[in-house]
Amino acid sequence: MPRRNAIGFYYKTGVDIWGRSTSVAEKKLKFVQIFKFNSDIFGYKPTHSIIQFVIMKALIPIFMIAVFIWTMNACTPAKQEAQAADAAPTKDSLVKRGAYLVASIGCNDCHSPKKMTAMGPVVDTARMLSGFPANAAVPAPGPNDIKNGLVVFNSDLTACVGPWGTSFAGNITSDATGIGNWKPEQFKNAFRHGKFKGLDAERMLMPPMPWEDIAHLSDQDIEAIFDYLLTTKPVNNVVPAFRPAGKG
Ligand code: HEC
Repeated sequence: MPRRNAIGFYYKTGVDIWGRSTSVAEKKLKFVQIFKFNSDIFGYKPTHSIIQFVIMKALIPIFMIAVFIWTMNACTPAKQEAQAADAAPTKDSLVKRGAYLVASIGCNDCHSPKKMTAMGPVVDTARMLSGFPANAAVPAPGPNDIKNGLVVFNSDLTACVGPWGTSFAGNITSDATGIGNWKPEQFKNAFRHGKFKGLDAERMLMPPMPWEDIAHLSDQDIEAIFDYLLTTKPVNNVVPAFRPAGKG
């Protein structure tokens, strides 16, 4: 005889709403069947004590959880940074980073002589980073150009005349006439404090050398640029001395 339960379902006595038997005897039988199924699948043998069985079956999940927790812990950003700091960069990785920085910050724009091509001026790779060529013509602005607020570059941007005078991009190849004999501290000093040759007693570097921007680089990046420049092809080129304004 169907009966109505609290939420309005009708069910037969001894059968739940899904039609499953609610008799205790049948439930017990189901439990035994399920247990037997698990035993068959998971390898429980009647010779094992229940404790043996649990330990055997629990070790693998416990091990997996431990590995998971250890991995998560080892991958926290703080740990990764600490590990990165521990592993000092190799000379090779510094040189690669330096090459990347020099290529992307635009050092070639001012420090490399160019060749004119159909695509416009391109870096003359034979003289890459060797600065204003000693035998090239110095830009000569008209008498009032500078007074009228102009700055005048030569065509490959290695020399520039402005109200500060005439500046010539330095030779920064590995040659002795470049930075080949510089000490790392000198190089850092040139960027950090804008000192010509990186020497405290020298004058300040003039525009358009953007040393105040380059000064934002980390010590390691400056070191990387220096290490890279020391691997560049040496180009012998003595760049003319800076000419302060009003002295020709
Ligand atoms: C916009 C042009 C420009 C860019 C870009 C530029 N420089 Fe310069 N750089 C100059 C000029 C011009 C000078 C010479 C300034 C002077 O004599 O006062 C100079 C000077 C230097 C000096 C000092 C040379 C010496 O003999 O004291 C170093 C070192 C240097 N640059 C390295 C670099 C590096 C490395 C980069 C790229 C990360 C770079 N420069 C980007 C124009 C530039």
